[in-house]
Amino acid sequence: MQNPAAAAIEIIKDEHRSMGAIVKGMQARVAAVKAGTEPLDVYLLRAMLDYIEMMPNRVHHPKEDEYLFRLLRRRAVEAAKVLDDLEAEHIRARELLATMRAALDATRESGGIDELERALDAYAAFLWQHMKREEELILPLAERSLDAGDWLTIATAFQANRDFAW
Ligand SMILES: [Fe+2]
Repeated sequence: MQNPAAAAIEIIKDEHRSMGAIVKGMQARVAAVKAGTEPLDVYLLRAMLDYIEMMPNRVHHPKEDEYLFRLLRRRAVEAAKVLDDLEAEHIRARELLATMRAALDATRESGGIDELERALDAYAAFLWQHMKREEELILPLAERSLDAGDWLTIATAFQANRDFAW
């Protein structure tokens, strides 16, 4: 591996972009349904929701919690508070996604889409600020604080469990 730090950071940002793209895609579908330019496709919305629910739970957050955040806690004591917040947000993400799933079930029953739109917008707003804090605070701090051995551990774990592998 040429540069483990660059490789690990690229994987994290890639996975953020994938989640962000699907969330934006869902918002576009919902907006089009509301505008009357697209029919409601509950199955498509469910497939998109499956992705944004399973990808972070199975692939992305475990790697952050168990590798990046764990090693960063050891090397940068000042990161503890932000890391506590971000780990709590990984749990909060599950709750917001569960709300969205319930709203999608309600949409399937009633055809109404307002509740789904609210749940989706709440998750999108949450996700942007969460990923922004990771990219703007945690990744630069990690670049300053972690050593080559840490990055090799992180990059190896991150590459072994990539988005397209599950
Ligand atoms: Fe992340």
